[in-house]
Amino acid sequence: MRERLDLIIRGGTLVTASDRYRADLGVKDGRIVEIAAALSDADEVIDATGLLVLPGGIDAHVHLAQPTSDGTVMADDFETGTRSAAAGGNTTVLPFAMQQKGSSLRDCVQDYHSKAEGQCYTDISFHLVISDPTPQVLGQELPALVRDGYTSFKVFMTYDDLVLNDAELLEVFDVARRERALVMVHAEGHDAIKYMTQRLEDEGKTAPYYHAEAHHQAAEREATHRAISHAQMTDVPVMIVHVSGRDPMEQIQWAQRRGMKVHAETCPQYIVLTRDDLKGLNMDFEGAKYVCSPPPRDSDSQAAIWEGLRDGTFDVFSSDHCPFYFDGPENTGKDNPKARTSFKWVPNGIPGVETRLPILFSEGVSKGRISLERFVALTSTNPAKLYGLYPQKGALVIGADADITLWDPTKTAVISQDKLHHGCDYTPYEGMRITGWPTRTILRGETIVLNGGIVAKMGVGTYQTRGTSAALDTLGGN
Ligand code: URP
Ligand code: ZN
Ligand code: ZN
Repeated sequence: MRERLDLIIRGGTLVTASDRYRADLGVKDGRIVEIAAALSDADEVIDATGLLVLPGGIDAHVHLAQPTSDGTVMADDFETGTRSAAAGGNTTVLPFAMQQKGSSLRDCVQDYHSKAEGQCYTDISFHLVISDPTPQVLGQELPALVRDGYTSFKVFMTYDDLVLNDAELLEVFDVARRERALVMVHAEGHDAIKYMTQRLEDEGKTAPYYHAEAHHQAAEREATHRAISHAQMTDVPVMIVHVSGRDPMEQIQWAQRRGMKVHAETCPQYIVLTRDDLKGLNMDFEGAKYVCSPPPRDSDSQAAIWEGLRDGTFDVFSSDHCPFYFDGPENTGKDNPKARTSFKWVPNGIPGVETRLPILFSEGVSKGRISLERFVALTSTNPAKLYGLYPQKGALVIGADADITLWDPTKTAVISQDKLHHGCDYTPYEGMRITGWPTRTILRGETIVLNGGIVAKMGVGTYQTRGTSAALDTLGGN
């Protein structure tokens, strides 16, 4: 006879990346141990009748507690950021450990561990950001860190304090191939953006809206193609992150059609916002609330992104949660005196970790644009596979962590700042009507959020060491 279960989730519809079916799910010691038509004998039974039983959301692109060079303060630390993530149906998030130029990568990782230790409501795991690819970093620190389970890192093709030139990018890509890590690329052409910024400023065009003109889609298209070419030359898979529109997406499809291992991520801001949101009210500073890079584009790009979400061009749908206060204490938010002089000083990034799943479900599944299975693939299973967490995470299979989100597909809600759990003082999605909302988030068998209320103690979330990305499973890359 089998041991008594800790938990049964009874009567729900289990949804995976490939399937949906009615079953009960049994949990013991934090893991899924049984899936069957009818289970009994457990300490706790959750009635999931009428609900979807989903693998917990994995948000593979969030920024928490990142220091900035200009004194603006990130509105979420690990406590508030993971609390917000959990309330939005996520059980794992992947923030960045961002190397500062001149600093050791290993010290930077230790720093982020100290900030996160005991503070998390969801599980976490760090991507690295390589901003200073010195021989010491590329020859020693990075290979050692990849072997220690930091199996993905991001590089930037823009931002003064982060940009790598082509030779540096190629060097980093070579290390990724050698060490079997996944490179994530922020693809926007730095020189073009700088030139456009100066031209707009010379014309007196300094309102937040002009951020969207300076960060032209052509600059993203050009950099996307350049990153793909670098990946081809170094024969390594890449992940192009936060793809904003049709033009860069077509470059990715061009590469994918040729059999190249080019993976792609997109985000909520590219399906529900447009550059017009940056106009605020009559080109005023409210537009700063939508400043992120790449910026939202137009309705044609939104339509293209939906095609890409449907047809598999995109593997991953992340939030790119990068929260800055709008007001903020003592000029630490987007609305600071310097930012008022030019869009180029407005901190780039918007909050969204809590609203990612509801927005994609409502706009995608409820409106019939994507299937339930595709929703699960984009938001949980694919990120788990591509970032080395599968099948412990992202799957409803025997032996997996019991990371589960119960989802009410009929529940309606209006997104509003006063109901969110993040540390930020606004949401760019204020007033959006949503159909479909998470009702319970379960981390390794423990309920952490119930009907919007946090019921777990801070510190339940733990650090997850990751394996190799599925993108590198087969020999060769591009
Ligand atoms: O504007 C954005 N997306 N800021 C976050 C940093 C990044 O590039 O992902
Ligand atoms: Zn980026
Ligand atoms: Zn980001």
